[in-house]
Amino acid sequence: MVDEGFKVWQRVLAQGSRIAQTSLRELFAQDSGRSERFSRTLGDDQGDVNNQISADFSKQLIDQQALDELLALAKDLQIVEQFAEMRSGLKINLTEQQSVLHTLLRADTKNSVIVDGVDVVAEVHAERKAIKKFVDSVRSEKKIKKIVSLGIGGSDLGPALIYDALSQNYKSDIECAFVANIDAHEIQLVLEKCTAAETLFVVCSKSFNTVETLSNARIAKHWLAEKLGVEINGKVVGEHFVVVSAYPDRAAKTGVVAANAFKIWPWVGGRYSISSAMSLAPMIAFGTDVFDEFLDGMRAVDDQMQDSAPEDNLPLILGLIDVWNCSVLGYASQAFVPYAHQLKLLPNYLQQLIMESNGKSVQVDGTPTSMRTSPVIWGGVGTNVQHAFFQMLHQGTDVVPVEFIGFAQPTHREISAHDTLIANMFAQSKALAFGRSLAELKNKNIDDENIAHQVMPGNRPSTTVLASGLSARTLGSLIAMYEHRVFVQGVVFGINSFDQWGVELGKTLATEIYDSFTKPSEVGQNFQDSHDTSTQGLIDWYRRHRNNR
Ligand code: F6P
Repeated sequence: MVDEGFKVWQRVLAQGSRIAQTSLRELFAQDSGRSERFSRTLGDDQGDVNNQISADFSKQLIDQQALDELLALAKDLQIVEQFAEMRSGLKINLTEQQSVLHTLLRADTKNSVIVDGVDVVAEVHAERKAIKKFVDSVRSEKKIKKIVSLGIGGSDLGPALIYDALSQNYKSDIECAFVANIDAHEIQLVLEKCTAAETLFVVCSKSFNTVETLSNARIAKHWLAEKLGVEINGKVVGEHFVVVSAYPDRAAKTGVVAANAFKIWPWVGGRYSISSAMSLAPMIAFGTDVFDEFLDGMRAVDDQMQDSAPEDNLPLILGLIDVWNCSVLGYASQAFVPYAHQLKLLPNYLQQLIMESNGKSVQVDGTPTSMRTSPVIWGGVGTNVQHAFFQMLHQGTDVVPVEFIGFAQPTHREISAHDTLIANMFAQSKALAFGRSLAELKNKNIDDENIAHQVMPGNRPSTTVLASGLSARTLGSLIAMYEHRVFVQGVVFGINSFDQWGVELGKTLATEIYDSFTKPSEVGQNFQDSHDTSTQGLIDWYRRHRNNR
């Protein structure tokens, strides 16, 4: 017997085949209310015109019938119910036997969630209180002028994004820098611009096992001791270090002595840790009140995802449209293009959030997936990328759904420049959707020998997210929306969005190969039989040149 879930999915696929026969031009021609019908607001702006966010997905290749089937799929899979279960502490990360509770980091105190016998809401709030005390003291002492946050992946991309996004709206006397790469050129560049006595290093690592972060912490410690002329493992150096980890006790064992440490928990995934102490650097720069506004914005969207009617549930709808584009219409990549220079790090952040979560081909039960899972996520900031990859978006052979993100109110006073920026954003989505046909070109008496090259096929889907301004609150709402879209996709794909086994093999092999470099052996000698000839050849070449230093 064919189960109900299979039938619902088949109906969604049938909608995909039907829609493939139509076009955005036709869909708009058929429905004058299309823009309104396919726009929703995000979160709860509490009536504040400065915090409004709206998404127009009318330029997606979708109609009411298709959306209804997607919502039926959501109902059949109980996506919202599963989201509520995640929020209540159910151990949905089965391969790691963990709850997934990043939403709890912004929950208010009236909630109570028990994990392994502990009220974790109380723990989160106790930690937030301790962080606030520390942040207030660093800010009021005015001794520290520079924070260098050391971390990689989720322990870097989130705090770096918040700092970069908000530093023009919320002025700070404390500057932040972020170092992720084990390529020491990165930390070298940052340290060159630091004054040791005024610098605080925040070492962010959930596991405290990550080689990149441990290497950078070691380099920072040596630099500090040398610059200050103090003992390397002494109290003075320790006062310039803070640790953020789920295992703070591992810090001292790896040689990182820190006067202060803040906790995250094993139930916070690295790429979901933006609302935790991992964001200590921007918290110190802007103050915890600003960070609390960021968390308020996230919480409003958490509540919308759980409580709103499916047809008004924007994170749910956009998550379903992500599935529609990737797994039904078959578009293998997705571009995110903020027309806001302050969000230039957003594509990098989303790349980890989406691809590390959903780039999998095995379902929760260990069987292979039957549909395309994560698209390739990429992007860049507008208008710059109009002069880089938009040619391919408009006329290339592959269709790439685009998400545009823009703001009505800039923080500067150059209104004409801002109007031009936003006009460009609207123009791009219009050109992608409707293109320019041969007949239109001929009607305009454009009839030169290059006419075929000027045809724009159109019918290329996009969503436009517009917010009034880039405040801490609107940023929080946007990030929570993306987190929940990833959740929606993961449920439809039937995968565990919260583990990342795929990054482990490379780490293990890197350790083996590193050992090959330092093993005493003659140049060119085949010292590790287990390597393939290509890897061995590369090692040999590197050793020969490395030994010439
Ligand atoms: O790349 C794998 C990963 O585990 C990410 O998921 C994580 O954000 C990053 O490494 C850093 O890990 P940690 O915070 O444990 O240093």
